[in-house]
Amino acid sequence: MSQSSVRLEIQHLSRAFGGVPVVSDVSLTIAAGQVTCLLGPSGCGKSTTLRMIAGVERPDSGSIRIDGRPVFDARTNLPPEARSVGLIFQDFALFPHLTVAQNVAFGLKTDREAKARRVDELLERVNLPGFGPKHPHQLSGGEQQRVALARALAPRPKVMLMDEPFSGLDNRLRDGIRDTTLEVLKEEGAAVLLVTHEPDEALRMGDEIALMRGGHIVQTGAPYNVYNAPVDRAAAAFFSDINVIRGVSRGALTETPFGSFLTPGHADGGTVEIVIRPQHLKIDLDRAGRGPSPTPMDGTAARGTVIRARFLGRESLVELALDEGGQRLTASVPGVFLPKPGTVLWLMIRRDRCFVFPHPA
Ligand SMILES: Nc1ncnc2c1ncn2[C@@H]1O[C@H](COP(=O)(O)OP(=O)(O)OP(=O)(O)O)[C@@H](O)[C@H]1O
Ligand SMILES: [Mg+2]
Repeated sequence: MSQSSVRLEIQHLSRAFGGVPVVSDVSLTIAAGQVTCLLGPSGCGKSTTLRMIAGVERPDSGSIRIDGRPVFDARTNLPPEARSVGLIFQDFALFPHLTVAQNVAFGLKTDREAKARRVDELLERVNLPGFGPKHPHQLSGGEQQRVALARALAPRPKVMLMDEPFSGLDNRLRDGIRDTTLEVLKEEGAAVLLVTHEPDEALRMGDEIALMRGGHIVQTGAPYNVYNAPVDRAAAAFFSDINVIRGVSRGALTETPFGSFLTPGHADGGTVEIVIRPQHLKIDLDRAGRGPSPTPMDGTAARGTVIRARFLGRESLVELALDEGGQRLTASVPGVFLPKPGTVLWLMIRRDRCFVFPHPA
């Protein structure tokens, strides 16, 4: 991205509580109009990162710039209201005694007419035209969430910080509101940092995903890349169930029940883990004790026995034990596929969908 379009730039941000590091050396850049999802498990330091950018938590070290201007560094610490950041937290509490219009206008310092224009414009944008005179208790959860979005956007913040903004909403509402929110954010052009612990939400909302673990950002990239080229086993496992096949790399080859895998760059004699998502295991039927012929794409098939099969709506999950070695693997099959326990099937693994990692020491 060009230097001029960078809205938010954080460098080497760190924070410890009582000597325990919670955010360690976090760096991120977000352009105008870009949504970056900060994704990671509970307690990994997402909210603390967001709070430091907002100016409500003081970093121990590092720097934060907005449109090139330092808002925090060794010499600077601007208060939240001077940073041009908008905030939406999980409990996006509207002011109950104010009307919707007054809530949205709350942070506006313009004259009455300009305020009214901006309020109308935003209520239109979040699909709540005419809701201005209502009070928050007269709105549904989804409507309140959209008012909170309008309120946060009203002063045209350069950076929008959102901490699990959809987690209070019921499932059926959530997707629609996510999409509306995304459209509005794009139209307003703020740089958005959205915190979530849900991979689906990050994949759906993010132009970029920053995957966080134990206070560190372990991987940053477009959703497609983070999903399809995880940096390690844990990064792969964060997005879906995974199967792990272990083997020992010898002369850049690792033997497995699915034939040999090229494992260049792995220590000779070192254990490697071949990771594959359930949807990339292919199932084939047994033909009188024989399986499908090997192909370069799918390698050699391995025979297994069904332990259990479950129907999950869009897909069926089939758990099998391999004849060779007895390892258990899970395959996901679109639609309905419910073979009985004990059924013999053949499994192949999509070579181009495998990730090979060194076994963590
Ligand atoms: N003010 C504080 N004092 C002491 N410890 C804190 C403080 N704020 C956060 N922590 C600790 O820092 C760690 C990270 O907290 P943080 O809220 O950033 O996590 P998170 O990634 O947002 O998690 P979640 O997904 O559960 O919201 C946690 O172990 C938390 O207990
Ligand atoms: Mg949090």
